[in-house]
Amino acid sequence: MSRSAAFDLLPGSDKNDVPAGIVQLNRSISRALRRQRGDFQYYDEPAGDPSLRQQIALRAAKRGWQAEIDELCITSGCQQSLFLALMAVCQQGDVVAVEAPGFYGVLQLLEQLGLQVVEIPASAETGLDVGAFEQILQRWDIKACVVSPSFATPTGASMPLHARAHLIELAERHDLAIIEDDIYGESGWLVVPDTLKAVDHSNRVIHCSSLSKVLSRDLRLGWISGGRWHDDIVRLKLTSQLASSRFIQRGVADFFADGGYAAYLRRYRQQLQQQRDQLLDLLGTWSVPIRATSPAGGLALWLELPEQVDTIKLYNRALDEGIVITPGELFSMSGKFSNCLRLSFAHPWTRARAEALMRLPSLMA
Ligand SMILES: Cc1ncc(COP(=O)(O)O)c(C=O)c1O
Repeated sequence: MSRSAAFDLLPGSDKNDVPAGIVQLNRSISRALRRQRGDFQYYDEPAGDPSLRQQIALRAAKRGWQAEIDELCITSGCQQSLFLALMAVCQQGDVVAVEAPGFYGVLQLLEQLGLQVVEIPASAETGLDVGAFEQILQRWDIKACVVSPSFATPTGASMPLHARAHLIELAERHDLAIIEDDIYGESGWLVVPDTLKAVDHSNRVIHCSSLSKVLSRDLRLGWISGGRWHDDIVRLKLTSQLASSRFIQRGVADFFADGGYAAYLRRYRQQLQQQRDQLLDLLGTWSVPIRATSPAGGLALWLELPEQVDTIKLYNRALDEGIVITPGELFSMSGKFSNCLRLSFAHPWTRARAEALMRLPSLMA
């Protein structure tokens, strides 16, 4: 199974069910489009529309980071931000540390860019094992570390404050770039953790994020703050993309500025919490012994099944039944996690979804 074939939708998500917040967002974008005059003849500046960067900076301030708009560059999503970060920091053949299990999109990028990978163990609750990373740094000449400190995928883990501070200290001691994937950062319903940037005193953190997971995947709108590599990153965006679409940025900036985003996010977080609970309740009825994480943010939980269950085989059997899951092996290069899987709670609970999940244990034999 290729990493690009990994989706974890279950039947029952209704594409026609558009939340009120998204309707409001669409109105803001339509208004921005109607206001457009001669813009269609000009490119936006490479770093992106200042009004959107201003709104992103205001949200960053709520998470312990006083960002200036000149420190932010708009991208077409977090994947592009990660790509620009790796391009700016690394040369072909360099070694990059990633958490395992970790986001398979990063593994694809590293392969594409001809970079070597060292996997650092990550706990399902507290994320990257910084002590293990310190040991690995004794043996490897590592250029960058890609990490999701808040609600990492696939586990939903968040790193405690002392581990974040330790990671920054290691970055300073070993001259590393830390590439922070913060795409799930704002999804937390109990707390919204500060970004790693809040403790980045030496400008070594490259912050990457987007609106894909909390608002809309279809906007293709993300951002990057490149620390000491920022000028190179903006240049790379210019040479690879020239500019982003101005009316979308302005529409989103208006949606932020008039409070639409904050109101939407409050409702969405409650909904995610409820959907996580519904999923955990259902898993509680399974007769197979499992260990499941119970994250307070993110869109998915991580399930450890009995040793003998091969979740790639389960994936294929489930697919025949119209159920799509994400097998654990996709989240590492080393063939680990073959008895694990990621289950999403991103979609509203439906009877079809619940029935599909109830059928899963019978496919594990
Ligand atoms: C952890 C993580 N980072 C980055 C991305 C890519 O996000 P975007 O859609 O903003 O490019 C994803 C998407 O699945 C993700 O889960």
